[in-house]
Amino acid sequence: MSSEKVHVALAGRSYDIHIGGGMLSRAGELLKPFARGLMPIVTDEHVAKLHLQKLTASLEASGIKSRSIALPPGERTKSFAGLEKLTTELLACGVDRGRLVVALGGGVIGDLAGFAAGILKRGVDFAQIPTTLLAQVDSSVGGKTAINVPQGKNLVGMFHQPRIVIADIEALTSLPKRELLAGYAEVVKYGALGDADFFAWLEANGAKVLAGDEAARTHIVAHSCKMKAEIVARDERETGDRALLNLGHTFGHALEAATGFSDRLLHGEAVAVGTVLALQLSAKLGLSPTIDAERYARHLKAVGLPASIADIDGARPDVDTLISHMMHDKKAHDGKLTFILVKGIGHAFTSRDVPLDAVRSVLAA
Ligand SMILES: NC(=O)c1ccc[n+]([C@@H]2O[C@H](COP(=O)([O-])OP(=O)(O)OC[C@H]3O[C@@H](n4cnc5c(N)ncnc54)[C@H](O)[C@@H]3O)[C@@H](O)[C@H]2O)c1
Repeated sequence: MSSEKVHVALAGRSYDIHIGGGMLSRAGELLKPFARGLMPIVTDEHVAKLHLQKLTASLEASGIKSRSIALPPGERTKSFAGLEKLTTELLACGVDRGRLVVALGGGVIGDLAGFAAGILKRGVDFAQIPTTLLAQVDSSVGGKTAINVPQGKNLVGMFHQPRIVIADIEALTSLPKRELLAGYAEVVKYGALGDADFFAWLEANGAKVLAGDEAARTHIVAHSCKMKAEIVARDERETGDRALLNLGHTFGHALEAATGFSDRLLHGEAVAVGTVLALQLSAKLGLSPTIDAERYARHLKAVGLPASIADIDGARPDVDTLISHMMHDKKAHDGKLTFILVKGIGHAFTSRDVPLDAVRSVLAA
């Protein structure tokens, strides 16, 4: 069984990410150094049925007693109501400063449990055990935690780094294909933003990854985490380079908003289309070869991801609606649109002065 360890270097808040097949069975041994008293495990009802037993058995084998709190699956749990329910249950478990809260699940559980841990008793430690590909390569690493409010997604939250991340590659075998692909879109994005060789590796090996090859999956999760860890170590609070991770997100968020944040378009799918649009915009502005956008789109299509607005089910969102959503994005400042553009695949940079006409023409194409 292949396994890898990635270090996130953040001085007093540093931690390791353990990645590999069968990691859930090693969770007891890995969490033992942080264990004091009853360990609360926050999960969703769906993940609980699939993976909780393996985790609790491993904790028990290491002499750790646990209590699980299973919340309804889905984005609606990441809300003030979900936070109230969770913090109430954590307090009922007697959580205090010395205790470790464990998040077992996708990005919804990781974001919510991380935020709850961050504010409970003014901050308790937490561990991330991500079970979706998106959570393993993105949301469990870097310390962003949040809930959604009626005004928008992730608008109430805080930076709170986990003490440890445990990514079991075997857990991905139960993930529906569409969710797996949505996470894969974030993996390919790492290639586009900072590593052309990794993108080429994915072109050659993407099919193997998606078919379930454990060593290939361990490699892409570890490589993505390594790239994210390096960026987060340079810019924990997103005052500079961390924004590069938002490649494809200005377009992607607008597409998600225009499709009502519904099952019509998952976040990862929106990032896939958004990244192609960002590459096309870079080409339109003469910064990047047109062929790179074509090559990127070809790989997404080959694995079964949407690669253009036309690939999104239902009526095509109109250009004005999309532009208006971009103007209201939390990352837009003073009416200026911020885009992550590329100077070719693997070379992303932030641009705050993109002419609206160019954006409009890419969206209309
Ligand atoms: N904090 C960050 O830096 C960051 C980054 C990106 C995304 N996010 C957030 O992450 C969330 C999306 O995460 P997600 O895509 O993991 O969604 P999710 O947590 O809703 O999981 C998707 C679905 O998969 C199910 N599931 C989870 N693991 C499974 C498994 N192993 N087998 C079968 N089913 C499984 C869940 O029950 C759920 O129904 C969003 O709220 C987004 O805002 C946060």
